[in-house]
Amino acid sequence: MTDARSDIRSDGAARARLDQLWARGRDFLGTRTAIMGGAMSWVSERHLVSAISNAGGFGVVACGSMPPELLANEIAGTKALTAKPFGVNLINMHPQLDQLIDVCREQGVSHVVIAGGFPSGATIKRIKDGGAKVMAFAPTLVSGRRMVKLGADALVIEGTEAGGHIGPVSTTVLAQEILPDLRDVPVFVAGGIGRGEAIVAYLELGAAGVQIGTRFVCATESIAHPRFKQVFIKASARDAQASVQIDPRFPVIPVRALANAGSKRFMELQREVIARVDRGEMSRDEGLLEIEHFWAGALRRAVIDGDIETGSLMAGQSVGLVTREQPVAEIIDDLVAQAESSLARRIGGLAAVGQPVEPGPVEPGPVELGPAVLGAA
Ligand SMILES: Cc1cc2nc3c(=O)[nH]c(=O)nc-3n(C[C@H](O)[C@H](O)[C@H](O)COP(=O)(O)O)c2cc1C
Repeated sequence: MTDARSDIRSDGAARARLDQLWARGRDFLGTRTAIMGGAMSWVSERHLVSAISNAGGFGVVACGSMPPELLANEIAGTKALTAKPFGVNLINMHPQLDQLIDVCREQGVSHVVIAGGFPSGATIKRIKDGGAKVMAFAPTLVSGRRMVKLGADALVIEGTEAGGHIGPVSTTVLAQEILPDLRDVPVFVAGGIGRGEAIVAYLELGAAGVQIGTRFVCATESIAHPRFKQVFIKASARDAQASVQIDPRFPVIPVRALANAGSKRFMELQREVIARVDRGEMSRDEGLLEIEHFWAGALRRAVIDGDIETGSLMAGQSVGLVTREQPVAEIIDDLVAQAESSLARRIGGLAAVGQPVEPGPVEPGPVELGPAVLGAA
């Protein structure tokens, strides 16, 4: 049992403990909280990005398939709405990647997140020569180490629960595999995070911070079409399904999205194309192209035009935790309050049994185990 005095003591201690747990991430990002708003093509434009940064998180502009002039315009527009740090997400296979990096340099962007495959050493160098910090994705410990060797300043590990293009391994397993062993650079955990208690768990495993996408789609400041937001609000975790490849000759990069008529049609199309190739009516390359092109422009149609039937409704499993439209500041405040209260409960428990509640020294060193544990254009 805790008394009121120990509750107050544990609240202050919980805040101090949280600040200590994510100090490395906050220092790296230059923010009040180590919560990154994961870049979401079409959704993460100036309004959402600046709102996240203004609320103490770290907004990231999604470049997606934008040409350099549009990206320059979006960065300038974001700078007009916030004086706080924010990043830019570039897709590694964008045909004008070098020019996009040059735009980031000209605009004085502080952090570039490279998604959609492993960046080359030359790409990392070009970004760093322009003065920005580089963040890369690492789906395994080995690839994370390679990215660090090539010069990445921080990593994002993203589990299969996430929305958009996904890997095969869950966030919890990736976190346990990578966080205890990769301590050279800050590592941010993404995929399936919708509450502050989960943030604490990953921080305690050694994460520097977290990256959250789905939870921000229905922010008041998000320009996503009202129909897009409505399906998010109604959906449950099981509606956010990974796309399925039905024939290894026709590879499909898995994308997690809410099931709709479009995703059903995608399965039918794969079957039709495969049958036509098998009958010799089209070549394998023609078939591959038809499958690849199916989703072209589909995310834009859903997010901007509100076509929720045939557009791509990219969403993570944490969509089940999205229950209403909320201002970004409220979402971040809720996450921080949940993180603090989970720490306070624990500290309160310690105080009640006579243990000290003061936080210990900040240590980015060895891991302390706690009790818990690319956009279609
Ligand atoms: C609609 C949508 C679009 C996305 N587009 C991108 C993108 O363009 N680039 C990228 O690196 N990640 C993209 N992502 C992934 C997010 O940045 C983030 O890592 C992911 O949403 C985290 O998992 P969560 O959705 O469970 O929070 C997208 C996610 C969603 C839901």
